[in-house]
This record gives sequence, C-alpha cells and structure tokens, in this order.
Amino acid sequence: MLRVALPKGRLSGEVLALLEKAGYEGAASAGDSRKLVIEDAVNQIRYFLVKLSDVAVYVLHGAADVGVVGKDILLETTPDVYELLDLRLGVCSLIVAGLEGFKDNQERLRVATKFPNVARKHYRAQGREIVLIALNGSIELAPLVGLSDVVVDIVQTGGTLKANNMVALEQIEPVSARLIANIASYKFMASEIDRMKNALAGEEDR
Ligand code: PRP
Repeated sequence: MLRVALPKGRLSGEVLALLEKAGYEGAASAGDSRKLVIEDAVNQIRYFLVKLSDVAVYVLHGAADVGVVGKDILLETTPDVYELLDLRLGVCSLIVAGLEGFKDNQERLRVATKFPNVARKHYRAQGREIVLIALNGSIELAPLVGLSDVVVDIVQTGGTLKANNMVALEQIEPVSARLIANIASYKFMASEIDRMKNALAGEEDR
C-alpha cells in the first residue's frame, strides 16, 4: 500500500479535490470524517491526515511514502526528501511586511516570524543584522503592539495585512503546494509514486 500524508486545514479541500479529479476518489471521504487514517482498498492507498507543518516529518522519517506540503515549510525545514511536483495549489508568497509608513532606519531590525530560518537566510544575504522573534501565529500582531519592526510571513489574499494597516515591503519567494516523496520509498515504489505524480500532473491545466 502507498502511504500518503495529506494536510488537514487550509489546504485540505483543494488537495482532496485535485486527488479526486486525478482519479483517486478514495481520498474524498477524508474531508468528511475525524478519522486520521483512510484506506482506499481499490487503489491500494492509505491516507494519513496530518497537520500541514508535520507532513514533511512523516515523509522524511518514512512513516509516509509521499505527502503534500507547502513550499514555505520545505524552505524553512529543508527536509531531505524528493520534491516531485508543483501542484499549483495554495498559491501565496513569503514576504517581509511592516506597518503602513514604516521607516527602515533601525540598526538591528526586529523581525517576527514563524519562519526563522527563511528570515535569517533572507537578511544574511543582505548582510543585515536582525533580532529574530520567533512566534507561532498571529504574526501581524507583533508590529502593531511594538514587539517587532517587521514580519516575515505568508500573504495569500492580503486580507490580514490590510485589516491590520500593514503593507508588503519585499517579496522573498513564491509559495505553492508540492508533492514530496521519501527517498527510500521512491526507490522501492517508483511506479506507484510516478503513477500518482503523473495523474496529478495531468490535472495541471485545470
Ligand atoms: C497565515 C499567515 C497570515 C495569513 C495570510 O496565517 O501567517 O497571517 O494567513 O493570509 P491572507 O493574506 O489571506 O490574509 P494563518 O491563517 O495560517 O494563521 P496563524 O495566524 O495561526 O499563523
């Protein structure tokens, strides 16, 4: 059986719809239940429902053979897995943002983020010293209450920035969902994994 780690939450609906369109109808029931393991006996697939930020952990350690994860998480955690396909879902951007009218005149910029490695790398490339403030969510609150000067975060619709009087200052990387595979699994189950990859790629012109 091919073991597939799928993200719960924000990306879930789009990923399940894509799998269904690609002929993996068994995945659809994953959306309507609290079960964390869904078996599709017809296609010989076992789906695991995993927190988005944990998908790559399951794949890296071989608990899942393949998975669907955001490029932002791959950039942050750099797991040793194969990145097989850009699914072109969950399209968004990693950016630097600040309050409207923000003046960048700090010697050591205070940067709030849930992507500390991405932020460090971005500012290292600019030769800029920063104070990194690692948070787990509601990142846009940090500049509003004086915890940081800017944020490194994801922007999708721009709604969160707008609602909090913030603007994007720099684009770091475009982000979308990727199909990833465990390196050993890809040796032993290449045909099953390629079948899924090709079926999903075939839906690219949707
Ligand atoms: C993400 C991100 C932004 C927001 C951007 O947070 O960190 O806060 O979405 O989306 P938008 O441009 O469409 O408004 P998420 O909703 O994942 O929640 P979090 O605050 O718990 O990180």
